[in-house]
Parts: sequence; C-alpha cells; structure tokens
Amino acid sequence: MVETCLFPAAGYGTRFLPATKAMPKEMLPILTKPLIQYGVEEALNAGCRTMAIVTGRGKRSIEDHFDISYELEHQIKDTSKEKFLTEIRNIMETATFSYTRQKEMRGLGHAILTGETLVGRNPFAVILADDLCFSEGEGVLTQMMRIYEKYRCCVVAIEEVDSHEAHKYGIIAADVIEEKIFRVKDMIEKPQKEKAPSNLAIIGRYILTPDIFNILRTTKPGINGELQITDALLELAKLGRVIGYKFEGIRYDCGSIDGFVRATNDFYQRMQK
Ligand code: UTP
Repeated sequence: MVETCLFPAAGYGTRFLPATKAMPKEMLPILTKPLIQYGVEEALNAGCRTMAIVTGRGKRSIEDHFDISYELEHQIKDTSKEKFLTEIRNIMETATFSYTRQKEMRGLGHAILTGETLVGRNPFAVILADDLCFSEGEGVLTQMMRIYEKYRCCVVAIEEVDSHEAHKYGIIAADVIEEKIFRVKDMIEKPQKEKAPSNLAIIGRYILTPDIFNILRTTKPGINGELQITDALLELAKLGRVIGYKFEGIRYDCGSIDGFVRATNDFYQRMQK
C-alpha cells in the first residue's frame, strides 16, 4: 500500500506571472477548485492518506486552504452557502497534511529530495498539481497503483506527444511488456526533437521507491542547471526497475496558458452536462 503522496509545489510558476507573484501556481482555480485540490482528491481516491507538500516562500495559502477557517465557518454556518465547503471539509477529515519548504528552487529532483523527511523509507506517489488529470473511470494514480502492485518498482505515467513538444518533457525509450505497459530502458530530459528516443513523454504522476533518495543525493544538476528526477530515475531504469504506463484519461498542462484554458473550458462543459 502506498500511503503517502508527495506534491512538489515550490516552483515559481513564472509562466503565470503576474498572477503567481504573490499566489502559488498550485492555487490557481479550474472553475471553483484550486489545482492542488484536484491532485489531493486524485491521491485520496488512489488510497493515499498522507499528503506531503513541498512548498516554498509565498506558498502559505496552500496550508491555509487545507485548514479550518474559523471566521468563514462561523459566517456561513447554517446558510445555503455551507454546501460549498462540503468537499474540502471531507478532504480535511480524511487526509493528513504535512509540509516542508524547499529553500532554493533547484529543480523537481531537488524538490522530491527535500520531501524525503516527510516520506520516510516507503514507496510513495508524486503528483505535480499543475498536470491536471481527468478520466471518466478510475483516476490516473489509481490506475498506476495497480501497476505498482504487480511490478513493485517505480512507475511513471506517460503519454504520446508531438515531436516538436519533446523538449518540454522527459522522454523514454522502452520495450512494450503488456498493452500500455513499458519497461523503460533509457530516458532523457527535455531532448531536442532530433535526440528524442521516442514520442513517449513522462507527465506529472510517479510512484517511486525510496532508493530514489540516495540516487538523488549524488545526481549532478542536469539541463537548465536543475536536479532532474529523470536523471535519477535513469539509474533505476538501467536496472530494469522503471515501468512506463500509458494511462487512460486526459492530462491538461495547467502550467501553460493553453492547457489551463483548455481545462477550464472542458471542466465547464462537463459541469453543464
Ligand atoms: P515546472 O517547471 O512546471 O514549474 O515544475 P515552475 O518552475 O513553477 O513553472 P514555470 O516554468 O516557472 O512556469 C514542475 C513542478 O515541480 C515543482 C513545481 O512547483 C511544479 O509543480 N518544482 C519545480 C518544485 O517544487 N521545485 C523546483 O525547484 C522546481
């Protein structure tokens, strides 16, 4: 059982400036819910009960969001507006939240390493809240849990991308082992189009085994001078211990304006149905 889900949420979100100057990117809403709440709901549905959030300066509102607001509770108690808090109250009752701060934003790998103190020596899930996943059936992380149960090694969610988009992702080279399931042989972070080993990109969902922390400790900074989780995972991939899973569902890159607008439109359309 994977008990903890880690949310690296310390990035600057520069693509959303000035909105993200004083507000975390993870708190941007799709309709009425902040991105990170969608992520927490997906983790809860997948059986995780501990939400471990790596924050940074200016991210206090994430902690406040998952805490009681006495004044607000008092104001709307027994009014018709109380129903708007039902979902978030349920989350707060079911999940435990813990936080640590990444002091310097040295990349996703470094954010995950910063989360070690919250995760301990157990396998854990990782959700990047700005990758918002929607599926008609089981959530993406729930699907991945099943793969983890079977293979007992790291699992990364993958999707096909156009070759001109490869430079935005970690791209894998892999052998098919079952329908939608791949054994990763190689991976490269943000390759140029010509250097991409395939069109299979890693998106913001991972299940990681705790040996990743020791590897991260010795991984050198990679592209953009950042500590890349892809570079660390490559060590485990070489041992055959990384599975790529082509998930069922839609991923919206809500860290980009296009993806954010698309998610907003699609969620609005679904709400109207
Ligand atoms: P991104 O590169 O998408 O986020 O990192 P960013 O840096 O905040 O966005 P831009 O490019 O400036 O607009 C992917 C995820 O990793 C987290 C981010 O918060 C995001 O969820 N992250 C990234 C950290 O927590 N720490 C880091 O040092 C870097």
